Amino acid sequence: MEENWLNDEYVRYYNTNYATPSQEYAPYLELLELGPQDALLDLGCGAGEFLTYAAPKVARVHGIDLSPLQISLASEKCSALATPWELTCTSFEKFQAPAQSFTKGFSRKALHHLADPQKLELCLNLGPAFRSGALLYIEDGIFFNFERSQLDDHWEELWADAARYYGESWESKRQDLYNSFRREHPCGLGYWKECLQRGGFQLLKTYPRSSFYGGILARKV
Ligand SMILES: C[S@@+](CC[C@H](N)C(=O)[O-])C[C@H]1O[C@@H](n2cnc3c(N)ncnc32)[C@H](O)[C@@H]1O
Repeated sequence: MEENWLNDEYVRYYNTNYATPSQEYAPYLELLELGPQDALLDLGCGAGEFLTYAAPKVARVHGIDLSPLQISLASEKCSALATPWELTCTSFEKFQAPAQSFTKGFSRKALHHLADPQKLELCLNLGPAFRSGALLYIEDGIFFNFERSQLDDHWEELWADAARYYGESWESKRQDLYNSFRREHPCGLGYWKECLQRGGFQLLKTYPRSSFYGGILARKV
């Protein structure tokens, strides 16, 4: 199905086929060192799974997402929370956060929707919203072995790695993967590092799960 986050049918398709069981979120709590003083921002929060999972550990949570349906689903989940929460229906590009608002940031499977210049814009825009020492974890389509400009040169090894990674579910995933590699904007680790640095973040550690998907942890200087 054609990806379009403003199409509720697509949003439901994604939520049904790619929903993440909540136990899979457990490692992120540790990785972000979430604690009672933290203000957590989730960029592309979807239906609010991570926000609601993390909320009992922190002082407040804020999720942003482009899709009104995702925000409405997230809002239903958040209404049961004791922790203060806020949701904003906006694109990453338009999000304006007050300076020094957040101590932790999280974004999973969302920022590859931004073309490269927009990733840089986002990092420049987000930098001031995070306090010094804040941790930001991004997990997404990231090419760990090459840069986006070298995609064609590395296509065969990439495609073979994707087939290996998805195993038995490869047939049902391959069209989505093709669309993501070719039509969306996963980029190389080097470019993310540059964007983060220019936004005032220092790359601390990488968590590749394959050559094309994984996490990066950065700290606000
Ligand atoms: C693939 S889903 C991931 C949702 C959730 N983070 C997860 O891990 O399951 C991507 C989310 O990013 C949102 N999104 C896509 N492009 C966006 C943009 N330009 N600005 C804000 N949100 C966007 C979509 O609406 C969607 O909810």
